[in-house]
Amino acid sequence: MTTAKLTFIGGGNMASSIIGGLINKGYAASQISASDPFEESRNKLHQQFGIATHEHNAEAVAGCDVIILSVKPQVLEQVCTALQPHLTHQPLIISIAAGIDMRSLDQWLGNNLAIVRCMPNTPALVQTGASGLYANANTSSEQRALANDILEAVGIVQWLDSEALIDPVTAVSGSGPAYYFLMMEAMIEAGVAQGLTREAATELTLQTALGAAKLAQSSDVDVAELRRRVTSPNGTTEQAILSFEADGLRDTVAKAMQKCSDRSVEMAKELGA
Ligand SMILES: NC(=O)c1ccc[n+]([C@@H]2O[C@H](COP(=O)([O-])OP(=O)(O)OC[C@H]3O[C@@H](n4cnc5c(N)ncnc54)[C@H](OP(=O)(O)O)[C@@H]3O)[C@@H](O)[C@H]2O)c1
Repeated sequence: MTTAKLTFIGGGNMASSIIGGLINKGYAASQISASDPFEESRNKLHQQFGIATHEHNAEAVAGCDVIILSVKPQVLEQVCTALQPHLTHQPLIISIAAGIDMRSLDQWLGNNLAIVRCMPNTPALVQTGASGLYANANTSSEQRALANDILEAVGIVQWLDSEALIDPVTAVSGSGPAYYFLMMEAMIEAGVAQGLTREAATELTLQTALGAAKLAQSSDVDVAELRRRVTSPNGTTEQAILSFEADGLRDTVAKAMQKCSDRSVEMAKELGA
């Protein structure tokens, strides 16, 4: 287990999820701190995890090996530029902010730092996240391993060879939970329309989503084969699948994900340096 000292700049939802995951994984509370201007957020983090908290970001980063930038993208420029004079000890920076590229982070933070950009997703809140990670050339293999360990505390990690792949990761897993929520909403409504109570339709839909994902993860065949196996000729599932295909579900999904990815590129231009 690493003895690195970590601090979170911004003690909101994502930060508390990752901190919770790290504590569960065996990180000591004394290794972790967080900084947030909001007293209530600081008190909550201290009470929940026993970690030290700071009102000022500059105090939090002193002597830390890893700084996890977990504020909203809109305030990141101001946060980074204010931190710049306090980073001469060359800590590893992990940014989980959506849409802020490496060039902007590097410019705002200065000091030629090791920076890892991460695109997490909301199931990190229940330690079932999926993160795409990209490291700049200043990042050592030890620092990559550390970033990997930190993000693995809340789910699975995929390393990316190019920063541009953060956009498709945003389209697949970053925004992906919302696609499944939409599908679940539609299934619940359709179940209710066919006569189920809302409670029954909801419980059956959620458990089916969970079961399908678990089955797919534990199976040695791909999802297309799993679908074929539950689609008997002339059966009930086949009718539903034929209807989805005839209505162009695959094209609808591909188009939606392209729009998501395009917006990710656009946001980087709007918010970046
Ligand atoms: N939630 C997701 O699903 C998700 C997915 C992918 C990426 N991300 C990224 O994760 C980051 C954090 O998201 P979140 O959902 O955890 O947001 P959040 O709950 O709003 O957390 C951000 C925290 O930072 C605090 N803060 C604001 N200004 C600050 C400053 N100058 N210095 C230090 N802390 C400051 C906020 O305090 P106040 O509340 O007082 O403003 C808040 O407690 C974002 O950049 C987002 O793009 C989130």
